[in-house]
Amino acid sequence: MTAAQILTLTIDGKHVSGLAHETLLQVALENDIAIPTLCCLEGLSNQGSCRLCMVEIAGTTKPQPACVTLIQEGMVVITQSENLRTYRRTIIELLFSERNHICAVCVANEHCELQTLARDLGVDHISFPGRYPALPVDASHDRFVLDHNRCILCTRCVRVCAEIEGAHTWDIQGRGIRSLITADFNSPWGQSTTCTSCGKCVQVCPTGALFEKGRSVAEMLKKRPSLPYLVSNRTREQQ
Ligand code: FES
Repeated sequence: MTAAQILTLTIDGKHVSGLAHETLLQVALENDIAIPTLCCLEGLSNQGSCRLCMVEIAGTTKPQPACVTLIQEGMVVITQSENLRTYRRTIIELLFSERNHICAVCVANEHCELQTLARDLGVDHISFPGRYPALPVDASHDRFVLDHNRCILCTRCVRVCAEIEGAHTWDIQGRGIRSLITADFNSPWGQSTTCTSCGKCVQVCPTGALFEKGRSVAEMLKKRPSLPYLVSNRTREQQ
């Protein structure tokens, strides 16, 4: 590693440094600067879809997603401002209004990243009319359930299944507001011929959209930290 690959920048007034291939989010986390995220998860590729990690960069007119923006020499970045807070609150409100996220009757109540972010950002009501479409619940799998009503389409399940398990069971069908997670080109999950029943998709899901059978309200605790552990062990084995 040469010194030329080390870049210095400023985040929230703090002088920090990172490697040229690192994202703003990675460098911020390495320096204990918290940026809210939903679609991003350590161990998976970044796709920059939730837009919660938007930050302000001096010299640019629009906020940029920290999880997919590489650091540059001399960057000046703001991660917390009134504008960004308003922006993030609006995203959370839109997610809550899009489907049915009634926390009180959700298996992931108190263990849900969407709920935690809403609390952190002070979202105690939604300003938009709720759409609440009646979406299906797929309970055809022996051990797991997919409740589309709780899904925020972060695609963590799609990525973990493809990138870590290598099964490629999950994908997205439809477009825009009609998008749905789908197994094996729209088969009931229990009839999937590719699913290995590893349960990784369930563990990385940030909400109660994917959960284990037999869990009741607030009982579905996810084990997300196991993913980076799994990835680093695999990388070590391949070396
Ligand atoms: Fe960056 Fe979702 S965490 S866009």
